[in-house]
Amino acid sequence: MNIQAILSEKISQAMISAGAPADCEAQVRQSAKAQFGDYQANGIMAVAKKMGQAPRQLAEQVLNRLDLKGIASKTEIAGPGFINIFLDPQWLAARAEQALASDSLNISPVAPQTIVVDYSAPNVAKEMHVGHLRSTIIGDASVRTLEFLGHKVIRANHIGDWGTQFGMLIAFLEKKQQEQQTEIALSDLEAFYREAKQLYDQDEAFAARARSYVVKLQSGDQYCAQMWKKLVDITMAQNQYNYDRLNVSLTRDDVMGESLYNSMLPGIVADLEQKGLAVESEGAVVVYLDEYRNKEGEPMGVIIRKKDGGYLYTTTDIACAKYRYETLKADRVLYYIDSRQHQHLMQAWTIVRKAGYVPDSVPLEHHMFGMMLGKDGRPFKTRAGGTIKLADLLDEAHERALKLVSDKNPEMSAQELQQLAEVIGIGAVKYADLSKSRTTDYIFDWDNMLAFEGNTAPYLLYAYTRVLSVFRKAGISEQTTEGSIILSQPREAALATRLLQFEETILQVAREGTPHVMCAYLYELAVLFSGFYEHCPILAAEDDATRHSRLKLASLTARTLKCGLDTLGINTVERM
Ligand code: ARG
Repeated sequence: MNIQAILSEKISQAMISAGAPADCEAQVRQSAKAQFGDYQANGIMAVAKKMGQAPRQLAEQVLNRLDLKGIASKTEIAGPGFINIFLDPQWLAARAEQALASDSLNISPVAPQTIVVDYSAPNVAKEMHVGHLRSTIIGDASVRTLEFLGHKVIRANHIGDWGTQFGMLIAFLEKKQQEQQTEIALSDLEAFYREAKQLYDQDEAFAARARSYVVKLQSGDQYCAQMWKKLVDITMAQNQYNYDRLNVSLTRDDVMGESLYNSMLPGIVADLEQKGLAVESEGAVVVYLDEYRNKEGEPMGVIIRKKDGGYLYTTTDIACAKYRYETLKADRVLYYIDSRQHQHLMQAWTIVRKAGYVPDSVPLEHHMFGMMLGKDGRPFKTRAGGTIKLADLLDEAHERALKLVSDKNPEMSAQELQQLAEVIGIGAVKYADLSKSRTTDYIFDWDNMLAFEGNTAPYLLYAYTRVLSVFRKAGISEQTTEGSIILSQPREAALATRLLQFEETILQVAREGTPHVMCAYLYELAVLFSGFYEHCPILAAEDDATRHSRLKLASLTARTLKCGLDTLGINTVERM
């Protein structure tokens, strides 16, 4: 059990024994300032109010009943009724030993759940844009975090592989094949799509053929299906190249595109009509939702089947949620989609709940994110205002990182510099995104993300190599087991405490899907290590016992940094 959980349990027990209701919350948090101890319990005030008691008086009664012998060296009441807890260095040292001795940093097993994570979701015959980049990176960090904790994760790449545009794309692919220009045309998906659209708008015969192909594709025509598959395959092969380069764990097997749900759609519409949730309106089928009102204050109508018989994005997402619960047996479903689609999801899920397709016990969570902006505060685009190709962005990251590391390490071989540049460049792009609270927009700024100071990938990667260098210099393995941890200096205790908060951190990330919490943790850990490294000599320690103890702390730091960066999908290097 982690420290926060242990303290929460003990303090709520003491609260209950002091007369608080059984469901009272101790609200144990890590203290923001050292003067308030390592942890503080903030729950006393609220509970005292409910009990009609003076908070400080309740706090005293709780302290009288609180037995933290061997865990805390001091407890005190502060302000209106906070309880501050100062942890006992010996207890911390023993826990740090346990973490070091365990393969999994002593993280308690969780009750494993089946969790479906919907992320990345690019569109066929289109270049992945920056919105997909955010979804891909943040979603993958969430996947890695959940898997690390022992959950069964199903990656769902809900690619846009269906819709009326496919008639046009098939007709255009056909034309390019006849001209024997398929390869060239599809190497630039953005241009392919644009030219197809142009032709569609200008050439009536082409447009007519495109429309007939839509009908054929939908009725299962073999030729159209095969052309469609070709478009999907080529797009996903190009995306796979980006995924691999980004160290994103998605593969072709994770594709569960919109088309997967096609066969379910007529049944869903019929069922919603039969349940009285959907009604016909001017030829279309509509669900009216009281929860959402239009400008006139009337219930908003969500169309689930168009007049022409076509289905919509919402219909697919209704079927998709049902499928994830019924067929994939999800206990929890997370959607990494940008915040502009929030209303869309809420409408789809309101219908899903009303129809009873997914019980309330299975959460459907929109882990939304804001936009990636340029330095000018506008949506991130090329100078000409076009979409930035992901592959180009990653190439630029590599180039910039190469310049950086070449300047720093003139003696390194060209090959080593290339490898280093790839890890740092890609890591910088990913980390810049992951380290920002995902709900807001963020400014994409090369100089910031490649800085060696501050909460950046280069800083953390460098900090990691610095820990490793201690062992290299001493010529001993990082898996040192000699001696035992003694926390006699405040810096040592502070470092140990932070190390032991890894579990609390990862649990929060798993709960909220907020990798920036892990980034902040790792950054603080690296800063604490750096202070420790400067002020508490490791290899030149005054005696062997201290030297062993500090080496063990360094060892645990290295493992924790590595493990944390792994959950973020950030690769590390041994030296830089
Ligand atoms: N392909 C969509 C887009 O590019 C994102 C799909 C997200 N997932 C979902 N279940 N709606 O906007």
